[in-house]
Amino acid sequence: MPAPLIAPSLLAADFARLGEEVDAIAAAGADWLHLDIMDGHFVPNISFGPVVVRALRKRSAMPFDVHLMIAPADPYLAAFAEAGADLISLHPEAGPHLHRSLQTIRALGKKAGVVLNPGTPVEAVAQVLDLTDLILVMSVNPGFGGQSFIDSQLTKIATLRRMIDATGRPIHLQVDGGVTAKTARPCIEAGADVLVAGTAVFGQADYGAAIAAIRGAAP
Ligand code: DX5
Ligand code: ZN
Repeated sequence: MPAPLIAPSLLAADFARLGEEVDAIAAAGADWLHLDIMDGHFVPNISFGPVVVRALRKRSAMPFDVHLMIAPADPYLAAFAEAGADLISLHPEAGPHLHRSLQTIRALGKKAGVVLNPGTPVEAVAQVLDLTDLILVMSVNPGFGGQSFIDSQLTKIATLRRMIDATGRPIHLQVDGGVTAKTARPCIEAGADVLVAGTAVFGQADYGAAIAAIRGAAP
């Protein structure tokens, strides 16, 4: 089974030293940078916006994986694209028209992702697979880092792997929330190929060892 891509979540970084933190995880072998955008409305927390994405873009060549936890998302898609996102993911619940939002992201020249909350069924993405470059399975309820992995999402990951394989298209399957060196293995076995990790990377003294431990969980 191939090793997964590792996307550390900046939410767990030291916000007083964001630029240095991004440099450090790049040097530590991270594949993508996961940027969690929270509006205090769609989720009960507020993080940062396009200004911060733009500032980090000037400093880093890493792929920027922007996870929008905002509603509505449509009015801000262009701003995140222009700020330097490579991939923009949104939740179907951000509404009103998921298909149109994905078309907009693609028209902006970016890759498009659909995020499924723990309570959201796989059917939410079934009719838009042709416009989807990544499906993100939330293994915690969105809003905060440092929560515990919800095991019931493993069967969802396996179901989505079958749905993706049936399309024959290279759609990434990403997992976000409570991912550690321990919970990574069942995610990979279920078919995930990109793992987001906040606390399990930025909460450790040695970022390189932390990333290697999660990547090395592949069976
Ligand atoms: C939660 C975010 C996650 C979070 C992950 O709403 O989408 O990306 O930062 O943090 P950990 O890895 O600490 O669960
Ligand atoms: Zn996230």
